[in-house]
Amino acid sequence: NTKHVVVMGSYVADVAFRTTKLPAWGETHMGVEFKLGPGGKGSNQAVAAARAGARVSFISKLGNDPFGDLARKTYREEGIDTQYLLETESATGAAAIIIDAAKGENAIIVVPGACYELTPDEVDQARSLIANAAVFIAQLELSLPTVEHGIRLAHTLGVATVLNPAPACTLPETLFQYCDYLTPNETEAEKLTGIRVASIAEAEQAADALLDRGAHNVIITLGSQGAFVKNATVSQHVPAFDAGLVVETTGAGDAFNGAFAVALAEGKGIVEATQFGCAVAAISVTRPGTAPSMPYRTEVDALLQRR
Ligand code: RIB
Ligand code: NA
Repeated sequence: NTKHVVVMGSYVADVAFRTTKLPAWGETHMGVEFKLGPGGKGSNQAVAAARAGARVSFISKLGNDPFGDLARKTYREEGIDTQYLLETESATGAAAIIIDAAKGENAIIVVPGACYELTPDEVDQARSLIANAAVFIAQLELSLPTVEHGIRLAHTLGVATVLNPAPACTLPETLFQYCDYLTPNETEAEKLTGIRVASIAEAEQAADALLDRGAHNVIITLGSQGAFVKNATVSQHVPAFDAGLVVETTGAGDAFNGAFAVALAEGKGIVEATQFGCAVAAISVTRPGTAPSMPYRTEVDALLQRR
């Protein structure tokens, strides 16, 4: 498979605690389980894309420390190209993920660390890599000027761009026109548009608002309700897949986005690509962890065939 996906984004170590109770300030609470694993939205999307069957390059920055080593080991195992994975003296970042042992809900604090130092000039160094990609995808855990620069560069080079505007943030108005695909979840769509997205009809309204701002295609992910797809000719709800008991939803958005990028790189249309993303996300939530829970292509194809 020569279809190439370039992911530019964050890597942080996910430091996950399962607990029955969230401590208040000044309190200490004994948790139930602890896990350390590779995380960060960019890195998770790169792993999802590689397992879904694409050739993947990851552009980011790491520290020269044990959390960085965990990332390097991950990309070796997943076959992800790291030619533009730069290094800095600063420490690799981390995410404290607190998971409610009963309900599976989570609360997350991210300190991006090393990856936040990736600069627009360094993105330019990867220009020829980006120019030859089928799809370029980024999120919002890097510094905003770097994200803007990458998306604008890829779009200008004629490469299909996907911006996953996560975590929720407002965006410069000039950025929308460079987003071939914009993929917010409900919360992020609300942050961008001011429209509360609780129903499919509201998702359509928010999507319209984002198209008006200049995005070319909008996909609003809706968790257990699937996703809503909208562009000049398509307006369609794509229902979610049921792949079994849900154990952890952290990283489900990354599963969707990494897989969506792969499907686009393979030449699939927007609705089919969204279905593919939903299938990958559905499997990922049945397993603990973020990057480690991403499914392999054979598993995804099996789920797709069941529908
Ligand atoms: O999207 C999930 C990711 O967001 C986690 O892996 C955590 O690192 C946070 O950045
Ligand atoms: Na998971």
